[in-house]
Amino acid sequence: MNRWFFIYLWSLLFFSTDYLYAQHPINLVPAPLLIEEGDGFFQVTEETVISVENEAQEGIASDFADLFTVPAGFTPMVEIGGQNAAISLVTDKALKKEAYRLKVSEDNIRIYASDTKGFFYAFQTLRLLLPSDIEGQTLANQIWKLPVFTMTDGPRFGYRSLMLDVARCFIPKEEVLRILDCMALLKLNTLHLHLSDDTGWRLEIKKYPRLTEVGAWRVDRGRLPFYARRNQAEGEKTTLGGFYTQDDMEEIVAYAADRQINVIPEIDVPAHSCAALAAYPELACPVVKEMITVLPGLGGRNPEMIYCAGNEKVFTFLQDVIDELLQLFPSPYINMGGDEATKTYWKICPLCQKRMQEEHLKEVEDLQGYFMGRLNDYIRSKGRTMMGWDELTNSKLPDKAVILGWQGLGNAALKAADQGLNFVMTPARVLYLIRYQGPQWFEPLTYFGNNTLRDVYNYEPVQADWKPEYEKLLLGVQASMWTEFCYNADDVMYMLFPRLAALAEVAWSQKEKKNWTDFQQGLDNYLAHLNKKDVPYASSMYNIQHTVVPEKGKLCVKLDCERTDVEIRYTLDGRVPDMYSSVYTMPLKLDAGTVVKCASFVKDMRKGEILTLPLLNNKATGKHVLSKAPMAYLLTNGVRGSLRQSDFEWCTWDNLNSASFTVDLQQTESVQQVLLGCLTNYGMAVHKPKRVIVEVSKDNRTFVQVGQKEFSETEIFRDGNYVEDVEFTFKARKVRYVRVTAEGFGSCPESHYMRPGQPARYYFDELQIR
Ligand code: ACM
Ligand code: ZN
Repeated sequence: MNRWFFIYLWSLLFFSTDYLYAQHPINLVPAPLLIEEGDGFFQVTEETVISVENEAQEGIASDFADLFTVPAGFTPMVEIGGQNAAISLVTDKALKKEAYRLKVSEDNIRIYASDTKGFFYAFQTLRLLLPSDIEGQTLANQIWKLPVFTMTDGPRFGYRSLMLDVARCFIPKEEVLRILDCMALLKLNTLHLHLSDDTGWRLEIKKYPRLTEVGAWRVDRGRLPFYARRNQAEGEKTTLGGFYTQDDMEEIVAYAADRQINVIPEIDVPAHSCAALAAYPELACPVVKEMITVLPGLGGRNPEMIYCAGNEKVFTFLQDVIDELLQLFPSPYINMGGDEATKTYWKICPLCQKRMQEEHLKEVEDLQGYFMGRLNDYIRSKGRTMMGWDELTNSKLPDKAVILGWQGLGNAALKAADQGLNFVMTPARVLYLIRYQGPQWFEPLTYFGNNTLRDVYNYEPVQADWKPEYEKLLLGVQASMWTEFCYNADDVMYMLFPRLAALAEVAWSQKEKKNWTDFQQGLDNYLAHLNKKDVPYASSMYNIQHTVVPEKGKLCVKLDCERTDVEIRYTLDGRVPDMYSSVYTMPLKLDAGTVVKCASFVKDMRKGEILTLPLLNNKATGKHVLSKAPMAYLLTNGVRGSLRQSDFEWCTWDNLNSASFTVDLQQTESVQQVLLGCLTNYGMAVHKPKRVIVEVSKDNRTFVQVGQKEFSETEIFRDGNYVEDVEFTFKARKVRYVRVTAEGFGSCPESHYMRPGQPARYYFDELQIR
């Protein structure tokens, strides 16, 4: 008995990996509802026939069969009404919209669905379970095997969307088609195209040719970040841009339809409209006297130039544009934007003011309600539904409109839900893919904070404190890809993938089915398919995020990797970490001056970038900072912030006018120099403070001032992105406490070419004491 038990244990050990593999050959994103795995394989061969019931199914089955043509060197035959075919499609009206059942045995495959979409998604599941060579464009030496299983699957949400901003960065038609194909594999069913903005108009409108002749082109500012691009000067040529002809758009819409994806056009009004107004300036309020141009970047105050709400020609124009949209897009939804409209000119425009009087509107916000309401009426009269951003909740909500919730975790849309309107969640804080997807030191420059793969994955739209009716009105979720920081389609794909796979799981899978460990494996399979398609994607999930916290003069170094199936290996002697380096298991308590190098590994393969942390060593390093700012510990954690104020190494204060912090050196020390790292990032309104004062004390009660610096407006608002150590050197003193007090400038002056009147923030790191 004992001996047999031992042999049993040994065999478990010996075969454990194969055993596990046999139990989990099905790694899918998005995670399906129910799988029952079996033994053995079904093989697709030259002889495989797919039988379908009708022409709609035939189209979908043929698209699947065509996948084999190049990589397999054969194309399975598709026949309508065939008997005894190896793969057959069977309508089952008991199944819900978009749902399917799949039965794969060694001899045959049966696919059940109640609609074409269901059959299509079943084929996407099979496609993902085939060797990734199925996506390749060369003949592959493969056996086209599928595991035996039974699956019941269907979506959690009916609206599973990606928004592509093709206005900030024009994405050529061919690349949009590639993205559509990658979306289809993820069972996403909506592509929202943000077709117009201050930065470009991207769709040919036959009645208004200048929209693309003028509006599709802007000055080229090279690789300058979006927030640093100066507006077009008089006489400058506009050479950067592009647009879709109506033929292009028909092709995109048809390609999407073949993949069960609906394309929703967005023409953003009344703001984000400088491209249209550059083409037709008569549509702006007549009080706008400056030249209106297509903006290359933020534009300073220029985005305040918006469509005039008092001019009837504006409505004629927009209705004409909508008429052409209705012809091109079969979509039930037409999106008219409505976000971020600053009403500077509406307040002083005689036409807008007249309109407000006639319509008995008290506030300019109500004028926007009127503006959007008219467009909504028009769109509804044509049998379609208007969509718009959650600013539509700021005044009278357009009847039956669908609201995209983006502000305040998307909860701004709940105001619409309270009035019975449908809504979609695309909270900026989680689902805006413009944000950093991994540790910022390794990422291409972009805006704001992080929305990592896991952040997107963990997103749950339905909140515990929601009224029950909200859930019924929630149509689904959307990832929004704003492209301010993309220069080409590859940049866009890098930002989309792999996070779009996480969004797909949020949109498709029941929340109880979500499991990070399984997701990682399903994701690897999906990414193997992207590899064969030559679609670029980010490996940021393998990079290390550090957190370094001062602890009684030492530094506590925490290392995190989003992938939970890796080992983090590190060195403290300056060597490049490799498969033999120490494995990180818990936070490291290190001395100032140590250099940490680390990276993630899977077996002997390094997966992520090497993170190098050269920990500083001065009298402040590792010492406690007394401050109201929760991030003040960053000032003495030995790690210097990069040029990005959002990299979790910079300390800032909510109070724009003043800030103060005190470093406790824990013992009396001789001090003669204090250096305060100050960041400038002009386009982001990050600037030096107006004044910095340094004081010292033995007892944290009586302080003596040892230095003061004051900066002029010209010094503070110097253009660029740089770190400056503000230096205070004085006669050596024996002290224990060093207090730094800063006074901010307040708001950026009107002469600020990017952010006039906006808060000027100051950011400090690191504080060095010698
Ligand atoms: C938006 O982010 N302005 C919709
Ligand atoms: Zn006006």
